[in-house]
Amino acid sequence: MSANGITRRDLLKIGAVGVAGGALTLSGLAKMAADAGQAGAAVAAAPGGAPFADPMELALTTVAGGAREGSLAVAETDLRLGGSSARLLAYNGSVPGPLVRVRRGDALRLHVRNGLAGGDANPLGEPRGVTNLHTHGWHVSPADPADNVMRRLDPGDSWTYTYDLSQQPAGTLGWYHPHVHGLVAEQLWGGLAGPLVVEDPTDALSSYETHVLVLKDFTIVNGRPAPYSSPMDYMMGKLGATVTVNGQVAPELTARPGTVQRWRLLNASTARFYRVALDRHPLAVIGSDGGLLDKPYGVAELLLAPGERADILVKVSTTPGVYRLRTLPYSRGGIMGGMMGGSGMMGGGMMGGGATPRATLMTLRVTGRKTTESLPTAIDPTAQRARPDLSGAVQRRFVLGMGMGRGSINGRDFDVDPLVVRSQLPASGDAWEVWTIDNPTGMDHPWHQHTNDAQVLSMRGGDAGYAALYTQAPAWKDTVIVPRGGSVTQLVKVSDWRGMAMFHCHIVEHEDVGMLGVWQID
Ligand code: C2O
Ligand code: CU
Ligand code: CU
Repeated sequence: MSANGITRRDLLKIGAVGVAGGALTLSGLAKMAADAGQAGAAVAAAPGGAPFADPMELALTTVAGGAREGSLAVAETDLRLGGSSARLLAYNGSVPGPLVRVRRGDALRLHVRNGLAGGDANPLGEPRGVTNLHTHGWHVSPADPADNVMRRLDPGDSWTYTYDLSQQPAGTLGWYHPHVHGLVAEQLWGGLAGPLVVEDPTDALSSYETHVLVLKDFTIVNGRPAPYSSPMDYMMGKLGATVTVNGQVAPELTARPGTVQRWRLLNASTARFYRVALDRHPLAVIGSDGGLLDKPYGVAELLLAPGERADILVKVSTTPGVYRLRTLPYSRGGIMGGMMGGSGMMGGGMMGGGATPRATLMTLRVTGRKTTESLPTAIDPTAQRARPDLSGAVQRRFVLGMGMGRGSINGRDFDVDPLVVRSQLPASGDAWEVWTIDNPTGMDHPWHQHTNDAQVLSMRGGDAGYAALYTQAPAWKDTVIVPRGGSVTQLVKVSDWRGMAMFHCHIVEHEDVGMLGVWQID
């Protein structure tokens, strides 16, 4: 056994896990996991993690007229991170920020108070301390008083965001974070992000023990998040020295043998991709960014780019022991193009596109009396692949670009000459558009559009399991990986809301340096 408790056999076993031939059957994967278990050595000892804790929940009150109402205060806060103290950026003193739980159809009012100190300009020339709030993944108005990301709250300012959730699908995990162009990366890196849960349409899944896992990396230098200091920070994106789940380093979750757990994952990192796998357990994907799927999709591992979410069920082993939820090495490429991709550089040295190192996100301790819970065979029977008539559909092409410390879409840097595309909502019904996003750069970019979701029609390049999942399942996505040297074609359903939305890379450093455009919906 090595010093970090991982046996060589574990490594071999994990190396062998993959989505064989794009097959996504749960039974096949369960068998694979079972085989691996039989061949397995004793379970490695776990590091002594603190007990797992879900994010705290925001207290909401119901006001006259029935609206739900709550407050978020933004401030620098001294917190504990991995046993040391760190001065982070927090909502209501907590990292991640409190979970906001609502129902479809709610009217929600969030009072946001900016308690950040004003200050100097950051490396991009933006005055620090200005913030605002974006509801990533919510199908709400992109205009005031809702999700207008052009609004700026100066230090000391307050503003009440009001969201009409009548069109927002139930059963979704979204998230909130700041969206002031040029400051997004610093503020998200510093800790500003929190989950948004819209309750399920039915209580069919309510019997499963459910947890929200916010994945976030940090590097703390002199008691603070490592500062952004160079164009390289923005081109590569920050990769933290420590990965956390709900602000904890490798917490331990306890479950009884044979139970089913529901885990709702959010990648709230600025730039880190997670390749999530649980020792000797297949994962059953039951939901994505835009809500629940028709049935569970079995995968051995799950790639989660910045901004993406996944809803999974885990059928916990009947064998007591300690199993690790890991992030496996993944190379999202670098700024030197693809030619150095196999160089094996690790961690921060990713200029040439080496892989992020393996790390333990959480340990699952299986202990106690055995029970038998089974995975459901159906999740949301109404979820389906969209098949609209596309004869008159608008077709768009976006080409991502990087160079000279800046990012672009169709050659347009947002700060120089912003790309503006216009969509027309019909008087009634929806507009369907087909968007192809090409990525000729040497790095994967997670493409994100506000306000409306899309289904992935096809994907060229990248991870085969990821492509298989999102081109086969009836998944609605707001964030999708566009592989380096590849492309994604997605079907965008434009509905309900008019106003100025945005699209951008969700390596938010890239958004800050211009890989961002305006989507005007009239
Ligand atoms: Cu999560 Cu425009 O962002
Ligand atoms: Cu968004
Ligand atoms: Cu990018």
